[in-house]
Amino acid sequence: MTKRFLSGIKPSGDLNIGGYIGALRQFVQLQEEGECFFFIPDLHAITVAQDPKELRERSRQLAAFYIAAGIDPERNAIFMQSHVPAHAELGWIMETQAHFGEMSRMTQFKDKSAGKDNVSAALFTYPALMAADILLYGATHVPVGDDQKQHLELTRDLATRFNNRYGKTFVVPEPMIQEVGARVMGLDDPSSKMSKSNPNASSYILLLDEPKLIRKKFSRAVTDSDMSVRYDWETKPAVSNLIEIFSVFSGMGIGEVEKHFEGQGYGNFKKELAEVVVEKLDPIQQKYAEIVHSEELDRILRRGAEQAAQVANETLRSAKDAMGLLLL
Ligand code: AMP
Ligand code: TRP
Repeated sequence: MTKRFLSGIKPSGDLNIGGYIGALRQFVQLQEEGECFFFIPDLHAITVAQDPKELRERSRQLAAFYIAAGIDPERNAIFMQSHVPAHAELGWIMETQAHFGEMSRMTQFKDKSAGKDNVSAALFTYPALMAADILLYGATHVPVGDDQKQHLELTRDLATRFNNRYGKTFVVPEPMIQEVGARVMGLDDPSSKMSKSNPNASSYILLLDEPKLIRKKFSRAVTDSDMSVRYDWETKPAVSNLIEIFSVFSGMGIGEVEKHFEGQGYGNFKKELAEVVVEKLDPIQQKYAEIVHSEELDRILRRGAEQAAQVANETLRSAKDAMGLLLL
């Protein structure tokens, strides 16, 4: 059976190298392995308030990054979630299948709602919409970062429940969580995920950061007092995080990286690390600048939405039919 991959990155914050390593880079590689649907979940972004102007701009930016990073729009549909109405429609249907109890156990909801007063109802039902995103396309594999694993499990449960109740309608998808780089940690604190929401800008590297800034941020990255470039998350989490970043950007295995820096201190390691990241990001940044405000980008997104809608509408129709919603 040919594999069908689907995934997306929310346009809610500027992309950092965590999202690149955990998601985007994988998308690019998967094009060689099967049919791909890469979308931008803007309906997910609005589960928390977004500034309209920024949301619009970030959506374009992210689409441009997909292409700049190497997703080929000639071969794969790249589209905005809100351009394919079937997502919202199947999202509602999946809400009818999801139980309040299981939704209440989603740790991302608990984290994002903790201590907040006016949390939207949509933030709570978000995982049902995510299930719809995946099931609409009959995705067999969903590459995501570690933090999405629970949502993927819910998707599998909902698909199975629906199939058992109404007859086989959905493909039950497999999560794909890579081993190295599933969770890139902050440069200032290896116990929290690298994230743009961290008020300390030195804790993350954005895909649009300039070389000078990248070098500065890596030079400030926390390490430990042991001085050896050795991979061990138990006793050397900060250094292990940097080794993973080096490994991904250089293409060297973890063992090779350790060997490469054997007997060297952290100063040199951080310098080389900054250089491999700068070198890798440079062509992406250039391509990004060329397309982000081009009409070509509009055309790609329009075509992507049309291609996606064809597949999505068919699944939506089968699901409605299976449930007994009257079709004419
Ligand atoms: P987000 O920007 O939260 O929508 O994340 C987009 C994708 O990147 C998701 O698949 C996340 O799991 C992944 N991701 C985001 N931040 C990181 C990180 N620090 N390490 C690894 N993956 C990440
Ligand atoms: N929830 C994902 C995140 O926060 C984004 C997302 C929405 C997604 N729908 C998806 C990822 C479908 C994979 C498949 O990162």
